[in-house]
Amino acid sequence: MARASAKSVFFCQNCGYESAKWMGQCPACREWNSFAEEKITPARTSGAGKAGAKKVRQPVRIKDVSMDETLRIGTGIGEFDRVLGGGIVHGALMLIGGDPGIGKSTLLLQTCRNLAASGKQVLYISGEESPQQIRMRAERIGTMPDTLYLLCETDLEAVREVIEKNRPDICVVDSVQTMFSADVTSAPGSVSQVREATSTLMMLAKTQGVSIFIVGHVTKDGTVAGPRVLEHMVDTVLYFEGDRQASYRILRAAKNRFGSTNEIGVFEMRGSGLAEVPNPSEYMLNGKPEGASGSIVACTVEGTRPVLVEVQALVCRTSFGMPRRTAAGTDYNRVNLLMAVLEKRCGLHLSDSDAYVNIAGGMRLSEPAIDLGIVLAIVSSSRNQPIGERVLAFGEVGLSGEVRAVSQAEQRVSEAKKLGFETVILPKANMRSFGKAEGIRLCPVDNIKQAMDLLGTL
Ligand code: TYD
Ligand code: MG
Repeated sequence: MARASAKSVFFCQNCGYESAKWMGQCPACREWNSFAEEKITPARTSGAGKAGAKKVRQPVRIKDVSMDETLRIGTGIGEFDRVLGGGIVHGALMLIGGDPGIGKSTLLLQTCRNLAASGKQVLYISGEESPQQIRMRAERIGTMPDTLYLLCETDLEAVREVIEKNRPDICVVDSVQTMFSADVTSAPGSVSQVREATSTLMMLAKTQGVSIFIVGHVTKDGTVAGPRVLEHMVDTVLYFEGDRQASYRILRAAKNRFGSTNEIGVFEMRGSGLAEVPNPSEYMLNGKPEGASGSIVACTVEGTRPVLVEVQALVCRTSFGMPRRTAAGTDYNRVNLLMAVLEKRCGLHLSDSDAYVNIAGGMRLSEPAIDLGIVLAIVSSSRNQPIGERVLAFGEVGLSGEVRAVSQAEQRVSEAKKLGFETVILPKANMRSFGKAEGIRLCPVDNIKQAMDLLGTL
């Protein structure tokens, strides 16, 4: 009896926290009622021992390691390559997370098609859909090359055999939650199953030199379901996000052993699959109203790319004692703070007004460089004074109402120029890095009061 209980462990199904006994609340992620009992069989450890005993590796000089294997494979999708850090690394294990229906399978099928068309052997393993369903999706995307193979399988052992036998260059496992190993007694999708599947795939990727993509479902709070453990087992973690209503999608790296994590890839879901959006600014500014008050264009930097977005504010008299404030696409507390600064430093009376701030296009921004845009949109709406069409503002706002310098001011200004903006309101402290800007008018400001005074003249 005692022996049997020694072999069973409780896992939090939300974050993967391991415990010897059942608990009502997970001490790590604070989720209630998330513990489930899972049997740990010794087969797994002996399996790892066997693999280790097969071949004892010898240390090599680091300068003797050949570089060929680290050459990257282009996916044929520029935005995807950018997020991966320049392409797929040989033998890498990459996790793609995202809400259901966001387009993970579509993106990977398109990638597989491109890779197969460039002569790679590609294997797409699906545990979720039947071959017919995948064929139907493939029909929308386009013609499929001969070197793209499909396998509908959920048994991990079978998957391992197929990969070892066929040794494809690239392999996709859609999704890791459907993979099932008979060595582990718990249900598919549980922490031990997902962990087993990932470690098996990791081993295959490293020993066979196959680059493997795995798809992971996310929970309602946006993390890869259960297995946070997954995130540190794999080389790269990508999240595919976006508004279900809006047609654009953003691919972001949360972890990347082979590149930077601050690049984003922007896509648009069309009738024939995902299309790249090479110039997100143009896309985000689509449909900007003309001559409306409470609207201004701000500039944020995502990775190495400046992106222009429209910041909208609506300020109106509150009909209740307690004013209502909302912030969509930006931090609610930041908006409250900026309104307090406006009230205290500029004497703008906002305490009896409702205020709604929105970043049009549905993008979520957290960079402080959009502060000045938010402030000016609020001022414009409360004075009911439209801001000129071709005006852009960026800068961080401090608690005493000062406008502080932001990074990459030159890139921001040149992006504004590229899209036909005529005036840029920017922090004075940033002016030092400019020689002379041609073809665009720069209005440096020290504090928000100066920026507000400028509004009437633009
Ligand atoms: P899918 O790739 O199945 O999502 P996931 O694997 O992340 O769950 O994406 C499905 C959604 O995308 C679905 O709602 C239909 C839509 N879609 C298009 O709009 N156009 C297309 O060409 C394809 C293939 C899908
Ligand atoms: Mg899918």
